[in-house]
Amino acid sequence: MAKKTLPFSQTELEEIIAQHPTPFHIYDEQAIRQNVRKLLAAFSWAPSFKEYFAVKATPNPYILKLLREEGVGADCSSLAELILSEKAGIVGENIMFTSNDTPAEEYVKARQLGAVINLDDITQLDYLEKHAGMPELISFRYNPGPLRQGGNAIIGKPEDAKYGLTRQQLIAAYKMARDKGAKRFGLHTMVISNELNPAFFIETAVMMFDLVVGIYRENGIRIELVNFGGGIGIPYRPEQDAVDLEVIGQGVKKVYEEKIAASGLAPLELALECGRMITGPYGYLVTKALHKKEIYKNYIGLDACMANLMRPGIYGSYHHITVAGKENLPLDHMYDVTGSLCENNDKFAVDRKLPRIDIGDTLVIHDAGAHGHAMGFNYNGKLRSAELLLKPDKSVQVIRRAETLDDLFATLDFSRL
Ligand SMILES: Cc1ncc(COP(=O)(O)O)c(C=O)c1O
Repeated sequence: MAKKTLPFSQTELEEIIAQHPTPFHIYDEQAIRQNVRKLLAAFSWAPSFKEYFAVKATPNPYILKLLREEGVGADCSSLAELILSEKAGIVGENIMFTSNDTPAEEYVKARQLGAVINLDDITQLDYLEKHAGMPELISFRYNPGPLRQGGNAIIGKPEDAKYGLTRQQLIAAYKMARDKGAKRFGLHTMVISNELNPAFFIETAVMMFDLVVGIYRENGIRIELVNFGGGIGIPYRPEQDAVDLEVIGQGVKKVYEEKIAASGLAPLELALECGRMITGPYGYLVTKALHKKEIYKNYIGLDACMANLMRPGIYGSYHHITVAGKENLPLDHMYDVTGSLCENNDKFAVDRKLPRIDIGDTLVIHDAGAHGHAMGFNYNGKLRSAELLLKPDKSVQVIRRAETLDDLFATLDFSRL
């Protein structure tokens, strides 16, 4: 069981707030670096291993740059994500471009950057060739459909998911790609999301390595890169444990030896494209209690809302809350902790036991580093908050300023009213 702690004391936090008004997201650089090193170490046995960070989780170029310094690449799914990666110095095959329903200009940009292009459908081969030309290295996304159990509210069951190719299509697609001039081949899947059980990832490796062997036997195509996708979960609840990355690494190693090395298909490059587990636990949404309201239930109204972190609102997800300076007080009050949107699901917590909260208290919402700021929106005219980076020397860098009303209204021409 992991105790939920903060990377700053209450005094340090109040000093940060004095410079940077709440709400804001703050990321712990040192913890992100240490965590990513653990992931890379778990796969250090592999002939070649790459983590392509899922940019959608935390699309900030300063985060991408620090990850690049650790040897991490980028998993991009849109033009904007490709540009962010380029700005952070991640280019060439350090980018894997996994999109779906893709506009032509995105393929053009991905080709221009030399990214590994991972196609979501067999029809995309002609489309890519027509609009951006056929690359030498091409990858396809596999959807096992009913052959694989798994999935959850975030990602859906494989057979209900819109992504990827069937096995039969995959075999045909590699042949087509070879006929069009491709010489190097990758294989990708993404069937798990926020999963804490390491066995699921080892099962994915079994599925993918069997497929690599099958593709080779059926059409003589030798896959050089296998990307297992992301999906490693994080312990949002204090009673949950983080995934043991060594267990995944060693489990995949055993399967690699049994299936890939034993079939003479080594070396095979391995990859993951985790987002959540890289930044999620190391980002915090810092907010203040603005109002208290007592009707049928007791409410604490914050200066943050679902526009800053929508996971609790849309998935009912648990995000731990620390009331700064009250960590050791008894949890003897029950609150719904709300934002100000005109939506009743704008609640960070429902029936949560917390210490007594007073107006002006600072609340820190944990595990907001992935799919937090990234999923922000402007409904009700809410402005997106700033993103800060807590550096290893405890200094704070603004890595994205807060939006202003001018930003919000930038697309409106009031003079023509
Ligand atoms: C294609 C793809 N890769 C990687 C990820 C990252 O997943 P996670 O943040 O759960 O690791 C996602 C998440 O939506 C995805 O759609």
